[in-house]
Amino acid sequence: MTVLVTGGAGFIGSNFVLDWLARHDEPVVNLDALTYAGNLGNLGSLRGDARHVFVKGDICDRALVDGLLAQHRPRALLHFAAESHVDRSIHGPGEFMRTNVTGTYTLLEAARAHLATLGDAERAAFRFVHVSTDEVYGSLTADAPAFTETHAYEPNSPYSASKAASDHLVRAWHHTYGLPVLTTNCSNNYGPYHFPEKLIPLMIVNALAGKALPVYGDGLNVRDWLYVRDHCSGIRAVLDQGRVGETYNIGGWNEKTNLEIVRTVCALLDEMRPDPAGPHARLITFVKDRPGHDRRYAIDVRKIERELGWRPAETFDSGIRKTVQWYLEHAEWVARVQSGAYRDWVAQHYGAR
Ligand code: NAD
Ligand code: TYD
Repeated sequence: MTVLVTGGAGFIGSNFVLDWLARHDEPVVNLDALTYAGNLGNLGSLRGDARHVFVKGDICDRALVDGLLAQHRPRALLHFAAESHVDRSIHGPGEFMRTNVTGTYTLLEAARAHLATLGDAERAAFRFVHVSTDEVYGSLTADAPAFTETHAYEPNSPYSASKAASDHLVRAWHHTYGLPVLTTNCSNNYGPYHFPEKLIPLMIVNALAGKALPVYGDGLNVRDWLYVRDHCSGIRAVLDQGRVGETYNIGGWNEKTNLEIVRTVCALLDEMRPDPAGPHARLITFVKDRPGHDRRYAIDVRKIERELGWRPAETFDSGIRKTVQWYLEHAEWVARVQSGAYRDWVAQHYGAR
């Protein structure tokens, strides 16, 4: 047996592949275009490991995807590949439409054609797992109940709109063609290998460098945080036991304002790597808000808990401590991903704020 993973060199995908191969020997074919967000260094521990077949390529390349399905005959396709950063989607939405919408469409069509070539048993066992986000549900007011799987889709950013579009395609390919799909909608992840354009790793690397910690608006926007390995265990639970055609929310019951997050990171750094110049929180700087900034996300995870028995292993306290520790121990990884392209992004995005 084999699984095909897309985007397995990115933040969540690489954590998923590493966890998967740490648990058993089922091979992984990993299709990733290695955009700025993809980094083979994340998978360095798998070098020379025959269970991991890395293919550099684009999910929009139908011939390539067809060839991989025919050659490896995976029992599942786990689709992580995406453009994933809201701020980048505001500066340039085109790539989000291409990868997130056209790319997902290409995979669905390739999977549909592939299924038609399989025998009954293989076809019945096949699963297409689509990894999506809670951002498709839009923004909550302060006292609204958390998102359930039946919450209306109200995406507000080019990123979330492109993910919402991909979710709709996945749904339609199930209803129309009977493709055996499952969709997960997860809250904000954090943990090792998180690219330092996103809130938590950006704050850690900036604080360590003595740079400003840019908090958008009033810093009171709320996100629901989940340690990345817990997201991976949720995806495995959905693959193994999820009901075909269903969607499952995944989250940590950890609502925090951005300011709480930044202050927590600062306090942990004060403890683990004190700065002689003073507490790291002195670096907090309020900057111009993100256009269309969603105020609050909160995820109701009772369905996956009830139906699949999934529970996160980390609390926010244990997960954030591990994460800060990981960044302290992986300065080389940080230096490597902070390429010229990364520096250009920081200059373009934060320069004007
Ligand atoms: P990421 O940006 O870190 O990684 C994306 C990966 O996809 C990279 O390795 C990149 O090279 C690859 N990729 C991009 N375009 C590609 C293309 N056209 N063809 C092949 N590969 C391509 O993203 P992430 O944070 O790991 O997110 C993974 C998935 O999880 C995404 O679908 C995202 O929407 C979803 N998600 C993320 C979060 C989060 O907090 N990061 C939360 C919920 C859901
Ligand atoms: P981010 O990590 O980009 O995830 P998302 O927008 O997908 O939730 O941002 C998390 C929150 O942190 C979001 O409310 C925006 C805010 N934020 C800042 O305040 N400053 C920053 O420099 C970044 C990158 C994000």
